[in-house]
Amino acid sequence: MRTVIIAGNWKMNTTPADAGELAREIARRTRIDGVVRILCPPFVCLDVVRAALASPEVASPAGSGVWVGAQNVHHALAGAYTGEIAAPMLVGLADWVIVGHSERRRDAGETDAQIAAKLANAWNAGIRPILCVGEVLADREAGQAEAVVQGQVRGALAGASIPSAATTSSGGPDGAAGLPWLTIAYEPVWAIGTGRNARGSDAAAMAAAIRRVLDDLGIESSTIPILYGGSVTSANIDEFLAEPAIDGALVGGASLKVDEMAGIVARAGLTAQARAAVRHGASDAPRP
Ligand code: PGA
Repeated sequence: MRTVIIAGNWKMNTTPADAGELAREIARRTRIDGVVRILCPPFVCLDVVRAALASPEVASPAGSGVWVGAQNVHHALAGAYTGEIAAPMLVGLADWVIVGHSERRRDAGETDAQIAAKLANAWNAGIRPILCVGEVLADREAGQAEAVVQGQVRGALAGASIPSAATTSSGGPDGAAGLPWLTIAYEPVWAIGTGRNARGSDAAAMAAAIRRVLDDLGIESSTIPILYGGSVTSANIDEFLAEPAIDGALVGGASLKVDEMAGIVARAGLTAQARAAVRHGASDAPRP
C-alpha cells in the first residue's frame, strides 16, 4: 500500500512577507498521521517557509511534519541561464520539486528531453520529484488522452535511473526513509484552475494507463504514488481518494486556503488510516 501524499502548489502567489505565516497555519491545521504533506511555495519563499516550519510553534516537539518543495528546477546544472534555478541551488531549501507542470510545458515550452534532465538533476541533488503529466481538452475529445499521457511518461522516464528506495536524502521533517523517489501527478490540463474536475473513475483509468508504461519501462509501478490534480477541493477530494489507484492530490488554488487544506488533509487521513488497516490486517492474518 502506497503512502498518501497531499502537495500544495502555491504557483506565483505569496511573498516572503506572508508565506511563512501561511505555511505555519497550514502545518498547525493539518497534523494528521499517515499523510505526507508538501508545500511548494515560489523560489523566493522557500527559505522563509522552511524557517517557519522549523519554528518551535509548529515544530515542537516532533517537527512540523511538513515538507518543502520547489515548483521547478532547470535542466542544466549551471551556466548562462538568466533567471533560472539549478538543482544544486535547491539543496537545503527544498526536499521535493514539481517537474513538468503543464503551465511550464505551455509557457516555457518544456520538452520531454528537458523534463528527463530535470528529473536526473533532482535525483542527483537528493531531491524527490513530482512529475506532472496531463492531456489538453482537444486530446481528450479526440480520444487521445491516454496516448498523450503515456507518451509524456515515456518521454520523461525512458532510460531514467531512479535512486533506490534505500537511498535517503539529507533532511525533512521525519527523515526521508521510505518516501518515494518518484511521484507522478496526473493533471488533465482542462481541469487545472477551471473548477472542472475529471471523474474519479477517469483519473483511476489514467493511473492504470500510466502504471502500464512504468512497468514497460522496468519501473516497479506498484511502488510509485500517482496523485490527481486539477481543481481539487475539500468538497471533491473524496471522489479521487476513493480510487485505490490514486494516492493523493496535487492541489493548486485550494492550497492557499488554510481551511481547504485542513479539510483536504483530514479526508486524506481517513484514506491513510484505511490503507494502514489493510496493511495490518494483511500482516496479522494467519499464514496458510
Ligand atoms: P488547481 O491547480 O488545483 O488550481 O486546479 C492544480 C495544479 O496546477 O497543480
